[in-house]
Amino acid sequence: MSSNVLLGVTGGVATYKSVEIARLLKQKGYRVRVVMTEAAKAFVTPLLFQGITGERVSDSLFDPQAEAAMGHIELAKWADVLLLAPATANSIAKLTYGLGDDLLSTLCLATSAPIFVAPAMNQAMWHAAATQANIAICIKRGMTLLGPGEGEQACGDIGLGRMLEPQDIVEQLLGEKQEGSLTGKCVMVTAGPTQEPMDPVRYISNHSSGKMGYAIARAAHAAGARVTLISGPVALPAPEGVTVVPVITAQEMYEAVMEPVRDCDIFIGAAAVADFRPKKCADKKLAKGDVVVDLVANPDIVASVAKQYPGVYVIGFAAETHDVVNKAKEKLFAKGIDLIAANEVGVAGRGFHSDNNALIIVSSQDCELIELDTKDSVAQQLIENISKRYKNHAKATS
Ligand code: PMT
Repeated sequence: MSSNVLLGVTGGVATYKSVEIARLLKQKGYRVRVVMTEAAKAFVTPLLFQGITGERVSDSLFDPQAEAAMGHIELAKWADVLLLAPATANSIAKLTYGLGDDLLSTLCLATSAPIFVAPAMNQAMWHAAATQANIAICIKRGMTLLGPGEGEQACGDIGLGRMLEPQDIVEQLLGEKQEGSLTGKCVMVTAGPTQEPMDPVRYISNHSSGKMGYAIARAAHAAGARVTLISGPVALPAPEGVTVVPVITAQEMYEAVMEPVRDCDIFIGAAAVADFRPKKCADKKLAKGDVVVDLVANPDIVASVAKQYPGVYVIGFAAETHDVVNKAKEKLFAKGIDLIAANEVGVAGRGFHSDNNALIIVSSQDCELIELDTKDSVAQQLIENISKRYKNHAKATS
């Protein structure tokens, strides 16, 4: 990576961690210039960043000295990369709407350097629909998300929203993770069930726990990929280093996938997406009795990705109770995808909810078995298999 890092610091409890980010980058020989918001200065003083970086800290759009030479444009051009850490919910919303009401937000608008965003906020704020919509827009516009991580938060809540540790942020920013079979590749994974509401208290869903999809996301991350996990409602911790976008319904999953997947190399649909949803969600709880619920088909996500983005290598899953390979092949052709990972369900000790699984990888040419093992081990073998096939496919189509 080139040598000029513009570190944008916004205000939150994680602001103190940015001092360590600046120190680590400096130690590695990068020039680091820091831009702070007013809120950031309530947590850490500019003097501390100045002492660490050896550079004057910028904090005002109306600094007469800097602005005599159009300082904000000069800084925007100086940056080889802009890292926003911590990125509060507010600063992410400003990025999304293109607001330029302080120096940092103006720089984000003015720079042509790649922007990396390390979110840090309370878990409820992270899960808020507005934040999730803003995050989806950031990804769609080509920004790279680093985290957030999961764990105990300053307010006592436990969940997703903690800023990643400085060492992890710096490693991901500089692409220093050890070379793996998917280094430099962007992978999107779907996991878990979807829930299709029929009234305010009931929904149609299935038994997927998300374990298989989460294990795949972890394995792809360990193989060096930049991973986005679009997750239905599950009770699993977010995989470290993976960007998780939570959704509830199939339609939400479809929307969270369809634009951002454009920039991905590989798409793996491990989610058990509900094929149908109630045509109408009643606004009051349905009364007991002869309730008839009209169903309409949900969009087929893997088929849509394959159709709309032929450059993306698409892997689907098939959960089958019998005639597994033939049924998987039918799905492979019907959905127009590259591979299908078929699992036999309805057998104890594998498939839905279990910690173990076995897969048959089915392509138009061949079938390969991954024997019964833990979902983590099966996911690692699947990722290695996919990366080999992806490389051959990329060679053949280039
Ligand atoms: O989550 P776990 O408890 O760990 O269990 C793992 C699993 C059994 C859920 C998983 O391994 C699995 O098999 N997932 C796919 C289950 C499924 O819904 O299969 P399907 O045959 O209905 O769908 C085939 C493929 O189309 C899947 O990739 C699915 O994600 C995709 N699909 C289906 C419907 C739809 N509307 N859109 C889709 O993208």
